[in-house]
Amino acid sequence: MKVTIVGAGNVGASCAEYIAIKRIASEVVLLDIKEGFAEGKALDLMQTATTLGFNTQITGVTNDYSQTAGSDVVVITSGIPRKPGMTREELIGINAGIVQSVAESILAHSPNAIIVVVSNPMDTMTYLALKATGLPKNRIIGMGGALDSSRFKTYLSKALNKPANDIQGMVIGGHGDTTMIPLTRLASYNGTPVSQHLSTSELDEVAASTMVGGATLTKLLGTSAWYAPGASVAYLVDSIINNQKRMIPCSVMLEGEYGQNDICIGVPCIIGKNGVEQVVDVQLNSTEQTKFEQSAAAVRTMNEALGDLLN
Ligand code: NAI
Ligand code: 2OP
Repeated sequence: MKVTIVGAGNVGASCAEYIAIKRIASEVVLLDIKEGFAEGKALDLMQTATTLGFNTQITGVTNDYSQTAGSDVVVITSGIPRKPGMTREELIGINAGIVQSVAESILAHSPNAIIVVVSNPMDTMTYLALKATGLPKNRIIGMGGALDSSRFKTYLSKALNKPANDIQGMVIGGHGDTTMIPLTRLASYNGTPVSQHLSTSELDEVAASTMVGGATLTKLLGTSAWYAPGASVAYLVDSIINNQKRMIPCSVMLEGEYGQNDICIGVPCIIGKNGVEQVVDVQLNSTEQTKFEQSAAAVRTMNEALGDLLN
């Protein structure tokens, strides 16, 4: 199976590394616009193959989409981070232009690919990719909820002082500090509700830390995180390529589910070889449903900044 990753920066290269180490695909193409950059990352990664014991062939190319032909999955991580003095609309304008042209170039060579959108603002970029390409909604998947959920489980594991892999939990809604919704009511420690083990204020603290999880890392690192984002993308790609049918919160087009229409936002999905195979209704209570509606309203406001790009 062949995976292309557009953008060989921090997240893109990390994702390529995990795909190889976990033997998720036989071929990975890294593509970047910066001359020689993807080639360098691919060469460096390939020189870990014998020590790490993988046979995935990783190739780097500078903007040569012919090398991406026949990809089963394409991950879009290309974009720029917000710079000082830049408005959100300006950032959206620049990243939207990149995501739109990348999606078109990809489809010219891989007409059947499933596209995973990572570039921020992710829910809006996913919506744009869907509108710009006209692809069926199962083939455009925004990655954000997988990452936010892994952060949620990590903070829960710290609060519980229990192993992270004994924790279950999910974050839905928009991929943003104020829009994501950690579902604490449904989180569990080996099948027991976390509310049995943590107080309301401890759970509120876990939810608050989760929501600013990305910002906390950006402050510490001086740029946004890449290990957990790269691993989360690889986890999603694995579910597609190897038809795992995992339930993963992803940003997908809603047509009535969760009371929403014409919006891409994070909801639990079954992810398999056809991309989004099902949106799962987890039966939100009224407080969670209200939060979901507020989150959707915020994502819609962000989508409005796309303006003429949608025409
Ligand atoms: P980065 O700056 O390290 O890498 C971005 C790469 O994209 C650069 O190498 C750049 O040369 C390349 N690029 C720019 N325009 C391009 C084009 N037209 N074609 C091909 N390549 C192009 O950034 P990083 O840290 O890898 O983040 C990438 C994006 O992912 C950002 O928008 C970031 O905000 C987002 N992100 C999203 C997450 C999520 O959960 N959805 C998590 C982490 C990051
Ligand atoms: C993250 O959550 C900024 O989306 C990026 O780390």
